[in-house]
Amino acid sequence: MKVIQSIAQLKSELSKLPRILVPTMGALHSGHGELIRVARTITNTSGEVIVSVFVNPLQFGANEDFSKYPRTYEQDIKTAQEYGADVIWFPSAEELLSDELVRLISPEFGNTLEGKFRPGHFDGVLTIVNRLFELVQPTHAIFGVKDLQQLILVREMTIEKWPKLAIVPVETIRDESGLALSSRNKYLSSTELVLAAEINKALNRAALNPDPETSFKKLLFSVGIQEAAIDYAIRLKMPNHCEDLGKERLVVAVRIGTTRLLDNIALN
Ligand code: PAF
Repeated sequence: MKVIQSIAQLKSELSKLPRILVPTMGALHSGHGELIRVARTITNTSGEVIVSVFVNPLQFGANEDFSKYPRTYEQDIKTAQEYGADVIWFPSAEELLSDELVRLISPEFGNTLEGKFRPGHFDGVLTIVNRLFELVQPTHAIFGVKDLQQLILVREMTIEKWPKLAIVPVETIRDESGLALSSRNKYLSSTELVLAAEINKALNRAALNPDPETSFKKLLFSVGIQEAAIDYAIRLKMPNHCEDLGKERLVVAVRIGTTRLLDNIALN
């Protein structure tokens, strides 16, 4: 596996199609491993799987965890290699956020749900994802279903700006308690981990209920999670360009201590 640290080196290393991009912010765990594994199945041995690792300052709000976001670069190299990546690329902020950067503004949907709690977040995500696409020119890019709103918005942007590029969704990977894997799980204490596991349990039960939003909240109240800690629990109809993810999904964001956790499940 090659380790790349500049755009010039990246461009000189890129070979023929297919080229599969797995964009990440690092702190790679087995959820990312699954994204890389799926990327590998698309290319077999003929193409290239490129994992980018960039903690994108544009998608963090002023009071968020940009400076303390886990950075585990040595371990990331090992993990990417283990799951079968051909290239791991660590772009520098100077290169990615240069004058050439085209700043994208998210459509209105990006100001709802996560966007309501993290203003400007999706402008930052779309801007950097578009920049990565410009530089890597992938044929496919892999995104996790856990960050459902991100996936919907990236697909919409891609249809408009990169019509030949396929955005491939990968289902959420969970630990043995059912908790969706996330780099932010590192912030949870052992007591918080126990509570966090209730989110997935409640999602599974609520999905069987005719009123999943209320059911989800009630299930969390019953284990001591307060209403104020549930940022949202919304039944979201999938737009036409995401119908492969089901007709509707229950999408939730819950704060456990100071950590916001996202999850979602298909309904029907
Ligand atoms: O999902 C993430 O890790 C990030 O939002 C992404 C897509 C790498 C953009 O910075």
